[in-house]
Formats: sequence, structure tokens, C-alpha cells
Amino acid sequence: METLKQENLRFLFSNPKRSKHMNDKRSREEIGITEIKVNPFTQLSESWMLLTAGDFEKDEFNTMTVAWGSFGTMWFKPFVMVVVRPHRYTCEFMEKYDTFTLSGFPSEYHTALEYCGAHSGRECDKISEAGITTQKSANIAAPAFKEAEIVFECRKNYFGDFETQNFLDPKIESYYPKKDYHKIYFGEVIAIYGTEKYRTGK
Ligand SMILES: Cc1cc2nc3c(=O)[nH]c(=O)nc-3n(C[C@H](O)[C@H](O)[C@H](O)COP(=O)(O)O)c2cc1C
Repeated sequence: METLKQENLRFLFSNPKRSKHMNDKRSREEIGITEIKVNPFTQLSESWMLLTAGDFEKDEFNTMTVAWGSFGTMWFKPFVMVVVRPHRYTCEFMEKYDTFTLSGFPSEYHTALEYCGAHSGRECDKISEAGITTQKSANIAAPAFKEAEIVFECRKNYFGDFETQNFLDPKIESYYPKKDYHKIYFGEVIAIYGTEKYRTGK
């Protein structure tokens, strides 16, 4: 129990050893779980984010825009949940690799996110075509983006499929005319890097 407690405390406060992750003009810094300011209902649905899975060092990764998911606590750990339809190229990387990032961008990158949500990495180099730049993450293999203003570094700790017989609202089935039900992934949040606007009290 003591170990669990200590482990949890690690996530509550920024680790000074890792705090200065980047020096670019947006200057993201590590933000502890108790300090983060994110609206869980709009961060994905309105601002959208890039879900990126794979390994930066091996130059094997892919990204796609996501607008559905959640932020919360599970098994005493902060986590994010994302849902990915099985035919997305990104799904192959979510299956193969242990880590992923969720990156949020300033509003001027909206078109870049639209691009990454309308083109497949199977068919083009959408990251450079969208005008954004990958970079090594601080703690995990999956890359982040230079232009992002917030990055969640996550390690997969659960995956699953929807039990479609458990859809209680008949409207849900209408999102799946092709029966391509999303795969569900939970990622434990290993670290969060954000600009000052994501720190409470700023
Ligand atoms: C605003 C927006 C939100 C999206 N959200 C999701 C999502 O949550 N899950 C999903 O599977 N696809 C989502 N998509 C679709 C994928 O981003 C899109 O199919 C993308 O081209 C897949 O790229 P890939 O084949 O390179 O993985 C979204 C698209 C947009 C534009």
C-alpha cells in the first residue's frame, strides 16, 4: 500500500528533474496532475487533439485527429481514454506499441488537425503536409509535436472492444453503419507538458 501511495504522489507534482522539457517559443513545461487546467468536456470535442502512437527513434509512428475520449482516474492512476476505429492506420500502431501521446494545438493549427483527420498516413506523409513537426517525447517512445501547446504522454494499460449488446441508447448504433466499432484504449498518464495557460491559477 505504501508503494502505491508513493507511486501516486509521483504523479501529483511536477518532477523538477524533468521539468524543462522544451525550449521552443511555446515553452511547454511539465505540469503536475493537481495543477493541470483542462476542460475534460471540450479539450477533445471542441479543440480536437492528435493521437500519436509508435516509436520516434525507429521512425515508425502515425498520427490522427481525435475528438472523442475522456480524462479521469482509474486504478489510482490518471488516465486518458481514446477510441479508434479498426481500419485507421493509427490503430495498427496503437495495437503494436505500448505508448501514445495526445497533443493539443493552438487554434491556428486547426487546419493542420483537419488535415490529419481527413488523410491517412497509409497514403501520404500527412504530418509534413499538415506543416507540423514531430519530436521525441521526454519519457516514452511515441512522439509529440513541436507546435503542440499541451502533450499527454501515456502508457497503454487497457484495451477493449465495445459490447454492442450493451448500447442502451439506440442512437449509438447509428454511428456505426459499417459496424466498424471503435477499439477502446486506456493510457496511464506518465507526464503532461503544457504552456502556462494549462496551469491552474494562470
Ligand atoms: C475532428 C475529427 C475528430 C476525429 N475523431 C476520431 C476519433 O475519435 N476516433 C477515430 O477513430 N477517428 C476519428 N477521426 C477520424 C480520423 O482522424 C481519420 O479517419 C484519419 O484520417 C485517420 O488517419 P490514419 O488512417 O492515418 O490513422 C476524427 C476526424 C476528425 C476530423
